[in-house]
Amino acid sequence: MNKELQDSLKRKAAVKAADYVENGMIVGLGSGSTVTMLVDELGRRVQKDGLQFTGVATSISTAQQAKSLGIKIVDLDMVDAIDLTIDGADEVDSHFNGIKGGGGNLLWEKIVAINSKKIIWVVDQSKVVDTIGAFHLAVDVIPLGSQHLLKKFDDAGLKPVIRIGKDDHPFKTDSNNLIIDLHLQKIEEAKKLADYLIKTVGVVEHGLFLNMVDTVIVGKEGTPQVLTNPN
Ligand code: 5RP
Repeated sequence: MNKELQDSLKRKAAVKAADYVENGMIVGLGSGSTVTMLVDELGRRVQKDGLQFTGVATSISTAQQAKSLGIKIVDLDMVDAIDLTIDGADEVDSHFNGIKGGGGNLLWEKIVAINSKKIIWVVDQSKVVDTIGAFHLAVDVIPLGSQHLLKKFDDAGLKPVIRIGKDDHPFKTDSNNLIIDLHLQKIEEAKKLADYLIKTVGVVEHGLFLNMVDTVIVGKEGTPQVLTNPN
């Protein structure tokens, strides 16, 4: 799929998702290019339609964008709970298991997600897959000892690579951690992998979001498709 078409499908999903935001809600705002489109749309509705809600951002860049559009942003610890979080994803399968972290924001995204009453993902149709794993799986790690962790993952056959940023230096997350990307191609036993990763000392969080999302809005030609998680 070419980028122009993909962006138009992302935008369709993002605009549809904006309909779920109601006055007075506390809304988790994810990260990535699809969420950038969502935040643009929400900013437009705040300015033109008088929509009023409070956002909790999953990255510094989302917070900056939202504030610049007149959306009120507060820290997660200032709210009791988040009514709805809308976020992007890199892949999602029919069991509503997904990979996130393409932009390196998975830690904040997961913290916001687990404090949300409802989660919606906005994706274009290329991201709906039979088996997750073709997209690299991001693992957020503490810098101290990260070379040892890299070797451990390599020995375990997880094909790890330290993510490099645009400045040719190791990519730093908003929490100043590093990202190790696992190039697995296929993840057959996602729960087992998630358990292994989270128990490994030095790992802060990983990008497997297993059966956490309630609704996936898929941008496709024509009307976006709304997939509802039965579990
Ligand atoms: C960032 C993420 C993003 O939500 C994910 O990478 C999707 O991004 P995009 O909407 O740009 O395709 O998880 O950490």
